[in-house]
Amino acid sequence: MPIITTIADLKRLHKRRTPKMFYDYAESGSWTEQTFRENTSDFDLIRLRQRIAVDMTNRTTKSTMIGQDVAMPVALAPVGLTGMQSADGEIKAARAAEKFGVPFTLSTMSICSIEDVAENTTKPFWFQVYTLKDDDFMQRLFDRARAAGCSAIIITLDLQILGQRHKDIKNGMSAPPKFTLASMADLATKWGWGIEMLQTKRRFFGNIVGHAKGVSDPSSLSSWTAEAFDHALDWDRVAQLMKMWGGKVILKGILDADDARKAAALGADAIIVSNHGGRQLDGALSSIRALPAILDAVGDKVEVHFDGGIRSGQDVLKALALGAKGTYVGRAYINGLGAMGEAGVTKALDIIHKELDTTMALCGRRDIRDVDRDILLVPKDFEGAWM
Ligand SMILES: Cc1cc2nc3c(=O)[nH]c(=O)nc-3n(C[C@H](O)[C@H](O)[C@H](O)COP(=O)(O)O)c2cc1C
Repeated sequence: MPIITTIADLKRLHKRRTPKMFYDYAESGSWTEQTFRENTSDFDLIRLRQRIAVDMTNRTTKSTMIGQDVAMPVALAPVGLTGMQSADGEIKAARAAEKFGVPFTLSTMSICSIEDVAENTTKPFWFQVYTLKDDDFMQRLFDRARAAGCSAIIITLDLQILGQRHKDIKNGMSAPPKFTLASMADLATKWGWGIEMLQTKRRFFGNIVGHAKGVSDPSSLSSWTAEAFDHALDWDRVAQLMKMWGGKVILKGILDADDARKAAALGADAIIVSNHGGRQLDGALSSIRALPAILDAVGDKVEVHFDGGIRSGQDVLKALALGAKGTYVGRAYINGLGAMGEAGVTKALDIIHKELDTTMALCGRRDIRDVDRDILLVPKDFEGAWM
């Protein structure tokens, strides 16, 4: 086993252990993948101010996200098909998050169901919903999330239609997957993954199969997914869904200041500045470049969260220093899960925490809630490069 000290180490191991079809599904963006790449590379444009001779004792990374205590302001983002990266992946990730003291978000498109995760954890998690046409199904999802004790829902607004992802099409990555000769040959070399997968019953979309109208078995899934998403979604519908849930709501997929104002006006508990990890509109701004304008527009009206491109604790610190109150990681924890299961998710969180704490200290700060733009050196045209 190689010595693992970075998220990049976990990513290498993830690639080695997991079938190509599922690894590529995680490690790809839409079209040319420009936005996917810039989500990470734009972080490198921001530099940190080294400070010296500052008392660094008694440091803390503790904070809150939507009023909930967190060991560090880093939640696990909703990621579909997590249970295909490692058997029962959602349960493993939720357990790791719970032990670490950070929020876990379950995707609508998870393999383990809401009930599976609730039965195998002890603390409330967050549930992410896509905006679907079928009101009865939405209502039932909310009822199930409530019964499972979910303390907030995240409504994802940037996937009314699916951005085209070339790797997925070429790999036959659909619901259910279409296996080709090449993918079967690849599967045969990933026997560790395969043995674990044979030992679990959880191999299909647990929140959908047997729950959505007309989806009694996995083969009917692809026609359901093509039909189910609400192409007519507008802000009135968002308000209606928020009312249907009635509890804490986080609106995800905001990349534009005008949209941020609309989301804040609806009374959301938080918004997430996000471009879906570069998987939707290719050519859109990276999340970190979009963040300052959104904070200027609504930073005093709604809690602003951030995701996209975080691969280290330094990236987390940069987003927080710009003004985000909380962050989410997607691929960083999926790399850990695919590499080493639950222990890998814990490892990913440990790595990010260590980097966050050390970098904060070297910037002369002791409390994560006190970091601000003063610790950053941001290029003059970082926000205004495009009109
Ligand atoms: C493989 C994969 C599946 C995803 N599935 C969902 C999903 O089901 N729902 C959702 O709201 N976002 C989904 N996302 C987006 C993430 O929640 C998050 O916005 C993104 O991963 C952040 O970028 P990062 O991976 O660079 O951290 C997915 C992302 C990935 C990589």
